[in-house]
Amino acid sequence: MNCAQQLVELFGSQADVARAFQLDRAVVNHWVKIGYVPARWAGEVERVTGGKVSAVEVLNEASAVNPVRVKSRPDDAPFGIQPGQDAMNTYAPSKRIHSFHPPQRTLMGPGPTEIHPRVLTTMSQPAIGYLDPVFVEMMEELKSLLRYVYQTKNPLTFPISGPGSVGMEYCFVNMVAPGDKVVVCVNGVFGGRMLENVIRCGGVPVVVEDTWGTPVDPQKLEDALKKNKDTKVVAFVQAETSTGCQSDARLLTQIAHKHGALVIVDAVTSLGGTPVKVDEWEIDAIYSASQKCLSCTPGLSPVSFSEAVVERVKKRKDRIHSWFMDMNLLLGYWGATTRTYHHTAPTNSLFALHEALLLIREEGLENSWARHQRHHVALKAGLEAMGMKFLVAEKNQLPQMNAVYCPAGVAEAEVRKTLLTEFGLEIGAGLGPLAGKIWRFGLMGYSCRPDNVMLCLSALGSVLSDMGLPVHVGDAEAAAHGAYAQMHAKDAQRKKRAA
Ligand SMILES: Cc1ncc(COP(=O)(O)O)c(C=O)c1O
Repeated sequence: MNCAQQLVELFGSQADVARAFQLDRAVVNHWVKIGYVPARWAGEVERVTGGKVSAVEVLNEASAVNPVRVKSRPDDAPFGIQPGQDAMNTYAPSKRIHSFHPPQRTLMGPGPTEIHPRVLTTMSQPAIGYLDPVFVEMMEELKSLLRYVYQTKNPLTFPISGPGSVGMEYCFVNMVAPGDKVVVCVNGVFGGRMLENVIRCGGVPVVVEDTWGTPVDPQKLEDALKKNKDTKVVAFVQAETSTGCQSDARLLTQIAHKHGALVIVDAVTSLGGTPVKVDEWEIDAIYSASQKCLSCTPGLSPVSFSEAVVERVKKRKDRIHSWFMDMNLLLGYWGATTRTYHHTAPTNSLFALHEALLLIREEGLENSWARHQRHHVALKAGLEAMGMKFLVAEKNQLPQMNAVYCPAGVAEAEVRKTLLTEFGLEIGAGLGPLAGKIWRFGLMGYSCRPDNVMLCLSALGSVLSDMGLPVHVGDAEAAAHGAYAQMHAKDAQRKKRAA
């Protein structure tokens, strides 16, 4: 008789076991169905049964049925060549290495996101040279697709070879000369990174600080600019990924311009998921990243610069201290007229970005924003039905990044680990002062789908209820379905009125 059956026999019925362990009956039913009690319950079983079913028995049974794999890769014998036989072997790995096959995961963290099959297929097309005429033609299309997602006519709109952090650094290195005063708005991790960039460029930072989880306060920015009339640049994060909070990029830009400063905007998490309107909002410099709402492979950072920025950089008297990032040099490859060698462009990643942007063009940018909002509303309904509270006030919540407080007393890292190992679902942890306090559920790009919303709610609900929390998976799922139904009904009414 397995441990689950022993418990039923001891207490009389599954319902009685559930009562004794203060669990949902579905959890006990699940134990009986899988034929063992999960290892994490070992101690509790011994305690509740007064030692009649021992912890060791539970552990042995659970690890026999569901062995814990400490290593994600098989640890095979060495290649078979004896050390000393081949001189090259001195540096050879000591174990057999297989081709790498990552598991299929549902990615609902802060990025990267899942990648659309069309993008993956495109990425595996044959390599061609970065000056091949076919590639050069593709570069022009890529720039025009980026102008579409950024909503700009800026000629200088292109992807930098490197992750979002490189796009960020590119903006600061080119726009901040030693001694330039820069107002940096910090309301989370990434505002802090901007500050670090200003310092490293030799700029003079003025920090406008806001509590994590609240947006950048426009009044504080205005006050800082009144006090610092020689400010050259204002920098802020539109969508702070560390908290799931959205700041008003249009208003902050207006304030900066009123005081004669240019803006650098971080749109890493916003681009493609929520409105970013570079021309209408008169943004000067902006950067993003390929692996968030654009749902492409990581490692590219789309940027866009106004003519005013290009002019300012051209006029700089000092030499830009980074060769790779010097805008004047990179213009030779990505600029309007010439295609001369600057560095070896990551060709296949650029094919992939072209396809990812094409998918957004086909869906329509506004439809993409609406999709992010729709699934956010459903996920939120489900999370709230499980009693979870959002970190950010409703009006500032980012649909693509949902930060909620972890329930009191829950082993939050254990929850994330179980979601990953048992459900293949990745969610994000809190950063900095929010570490251990919040979870971050990303709904970005191709990961922003109804099946992911429902999987997330049912997986999280069952892990929490398995841990003894008074959570009802069915309630969360019903709340999400209810939210979808309401939105469908509203859409149908709208369409009827429009017809
Ligand atoms: C708002 C924000 N800015 C910058 C970055 C840095 O981007 P990357 O990790 O691609 O370097 C991130 C990454 O998560 C981000 O969320």
